[in-house]
Amino acid sequence: MSECIIVFNDVSKSYPIYHHITGGIKNFLFHLPKALSSVKNSRFVALKDVSFKVNQGETLGIIGENGAGKSTMLGLIAGVLKPSKGEVIVKGRISPLLELGAGFHPELTGRENIMLNGVLLGLTRSDVLKKIDEIIDFSELDEFIDQPIRTYSSGMLARLGFSVASSLNPEILLIDEILAVGDKLFQKKSKEALLKLINGGVTTVFVSHDLESVKEICHRAIWLDHGKVRAEGEPGKVVEQYKIML
Ligand SMILES: Nc1ncnc2c1ncn2[C@@H]1O[C@H](COP(=O)(O)OP(=O)(O)OP(=O)(O)O)[C@@H](O)[C@H]1O
Ligand SMILES: [Mg+2]
Repeated sequence: MSECIIVFNDVSKSYPIYHHITGGIKNFLFHLPKALSSVKNSRFVALKDVSFKVNQGETLGIIGENGAGKSTMLGLIAGVLKPSKGEVIVKGRISPLLELGAGFHPELTGRENIMLNGVLLGLTRSDVLKKIDEIIDFSELDEFIDQPIRTYSSGMLARLGFSVASSLNPEILLIDEILAVGDKLFQKKSKEALLKLINGGVTTVFVSHDLESVKEICHRAIWLDHGKVRAEGEPGKVVEQYKIML
């Protein structure tokens, strides 16, 4: 039995809801204590009592509609979000969260962002310097690598993100929809690189609306529906169940 790398035990995550002051500001001020407590206490539950495990070397696919809670789940694994309830256990070095722009600083150049992410991943500067040419080559960003990344298109950001995360030997790879943004050629190249990483044994959580890729790449899948696990199991079966509901 291989080791569990990611464990969610009855995890819920809620966000505060921001209200419009519907009854007018005068009314709001007149009923201030009550109004304030209602603002304070209303929360939107993005994930509700979610439990699952990911074993070492496994690739778990997460599918579901917009707003189902997929990115919230990745944020919890990455540790950028804290659960409101329950327990999240993660063992291993996590790649920068592969969501467009996450983990990147807009004013820094592509090259500087590679450095930053490498150091955040726990590598030394000289480790990153050894790999930086390989990363830049893979990204095919050429001269744009020395431009601030706020000038990048979303496809260029995806290239940089994927190149960094796949080259820095993470133990856990979190991918949020990023492969879909690059052009067809880069998508093909990233998918090949991803399969190589997966075959090399990196534990991966792959969030995507591309159901065919989920079936192709993942060992297991979870369908999230309004913050709850609606189905879990063999990717082909979970995708079929999800499709019936579309
Ligand atoms: N910081 C936040 N504050 C308030 N609500 C949030 C916040 N982040 C997410 N939400 C809400 O939580 C729900 C789940 O969002 P999440 O981003 O996890 O969905 P998703 O499944 O990744 O959707 P998509 O497919 O569109 O990327 C949504 O209703 C969203 O509005
Ligand atoms: Mg999302």
